[in-house]
Amino acid sequence: MIVLKTARELKVMKEACRISAGALQIAGKAVEPGITTAELDKLAEDYILSQGAKPNFKNYHGYPATACISINNEVIHGIPSRNRKLKQGDIVSIDLGAEFEGYHGDNAATFACGDISPEAKRLMDITEQSLYKGIAAAVSGGRIGDISNAVQSFVEANGLSVVRKFVGHGIGTALHEAPEVPNFGPAGRGIRLMPGMTLAIEPMVNAGGSDVKILPDGWTVLTKDGSLSAHFEHTIVITSDGPKIMTLCEV
Ligand code: MF3
Ligand code: CO
Repeated sequence: MIVLKTARELKVMKEACRISAGALQIAGKAVEPGITTAELDKLAEDYILSQGAKPNFKNYHGYPATACISINNEVIHGIPSRNRKLKQGDIVSIDLGAEFEGYHGDNAATFACGDISPEAKRLMDITEQSLYKGIAAAVSGGRIGDISNAVQSFVEANGLSVVRKFVGHGIGTALHEAPEVPNFGPAGRGIRLMPGMTLAIEPMVNAGGSDVKILPDGWTVLTKDGSLSAHFEHTIVITSDGPKIMTLCEV
């Protein structure tokens, strides 16, 4: 069931999203050679708790941390570790969210650790731009497929591929709600977009092929061909006045 949010609900959810965005910015700014992914996770968690919110990934289906931190050929769901130090040249995808007064925010971005290769920079830029193409297509009266197709066509026109095994999602009183928001597929299909729908749009883009595999830890998703991957995500709301990004940062 797709739940349209009222203005009152959106106000609370905006707080959850603001806190999510702040935590992402704090962790992202701390990305540098030598820091561990567990240290980044703690920075994010401390900020979320300081705002009176809860890290909403923690314990979700048993997930053990606040953030998912996925490096280079890791696509998503990398588990933070005290033994994992970032290196110069890494690209580091951080995905996290916060729950505030029963409402959820969710966002992600890929950060450069020191100087990175031109190929890695391009992958990051195209992935971020594809998120904005998807957001721009999230207009009342359109359909979910319009978002999917906007992301896919932009990514593929740039010679990169979208991951198909994982998709974006509705979000609200649960981290994952209906509908699914794939990053691929034909425009003009799927459910109709309406004001009050809140969606997490999250392209995962690979430099090589779109196939992925999962590590024996049961979480970490990697590119099958070992190529680099990037991930950007915002929580948005569809309004009669167009899509609005909710996960905007104010720290
Ligand atoms: N970040 C995922 C999403 O954007 C959810 C992570 S699930 C978790 O939908 F279990 F890893 F937290
Ligand atoms: Co998400």
